[in-house]
Amino acid sequence: MSGPTAKVWIDGAVIEATEARVPVTDHGLLYGDGVFEGIRIYRGGLFRLDRHLARLEVGLKALALEPAGGVAAMRDIVLATARAYGEREAYTRLVVTRGEGALGVDPTTCGEPRVFCLVDRVAIYPESRLRDGIDLATSSFRRPSPDVLDPRVKSLNYLNNALAKLEARRAGADEALLLNAAGQVAEASVANLFAVCDGALLTPSVSDGALEGITRGTLLELAEGLGISAGPRTLGRFDLLAASEVFLSGSGAGLVPVRSLDGRAIGREVPGPIFERLRDAFHAALPDLVIPFAEGSG
Ligand SMILES: Cc1ncc(COP(=O)(O)O)c(C=O)c1O
Repeated sequence: MSGPTAKVWIDGAVIEATEARVPVTDHGLLYGDGVFEGIRIYRGGLFRLDRHLARLEVGLKALALEPAGGVAAMRDIVLATARAYGEREAYTRLVVTRGEGALGVDPTTCGEPRVFCLVDRVAIYPESRLRDGIDLATSSFRRPSPDVLDPRVKSLNYLNNALAKLEARRAGADEALLLNAAGQVAEASVANLFAVCDGALLTPSVSDGALEGITRGTLLELAEGLGISAGPRTLGRFDLLAASEVFLSGSGAGLVPVRSLDGRAIGREVPGPIFERLRDAFHAALPDLVIPFAEGSG
């Protein structure tokens, strides 16, 4: 595939991703101790950059992590890395780890938190699936309850998500549906889920185990502007099978129609009419929702 190679901001400079190194004693690697943001670049700008940084700031506070310069410094880092990569459509991954420490989980042995920012292209699903819809498979892995790991913290602990995805792929599906401990719908492996039930747009709440997705929040706002009744609600698998439309949203995933769940077709048309209205509204709103990274701006 043509285009630039992946770039990383690390230790004060933007370099080729293949040249970047993180010490093996970093607790982000050893214990998954850290937080991250995945921020999409659309049309030469960073999508809702300040909302991502606000979510990161709360996550940092929850983990008692205080990287030098705080999120203000990270804003500049993200913009500089995006500028170095130069593509108008891409994905940035801003990561903050606990930093290097002694063996043993104790974070007090760690020095300065480590910050790096990776920018590359992203394609979680093939183009044909984005057009025709993806197949979901219910996972045997559950989304951890909020009292185990608060879903509002976008931590480096993605083992459940990875194993759920592996299970779905091995079953021939594109994506996993994760339920919570109560057996209600939480989300997909790296995306939020929406269902259209009796004309209303519904999505699991944080207490159901959903991440407070930035794309999810944007879709809820756009739905309101379009006069579509929308909001969080607890959903079961039955609701998804009975829904007229199901779709996913996320920074990496984008807006993705779902055509089946566990081998049962969903809705009559995929993509459905509400999905298409929201996708059109999303694209129309993009110029106001991105922070341009080009020289002299941002
Ligand atoms: C577990 C999980 N849920 C939902 C999302 C979607 O959130 P956002 O729209 O903020 O990217 C992500 C994004 O990476 C995620 O990892």
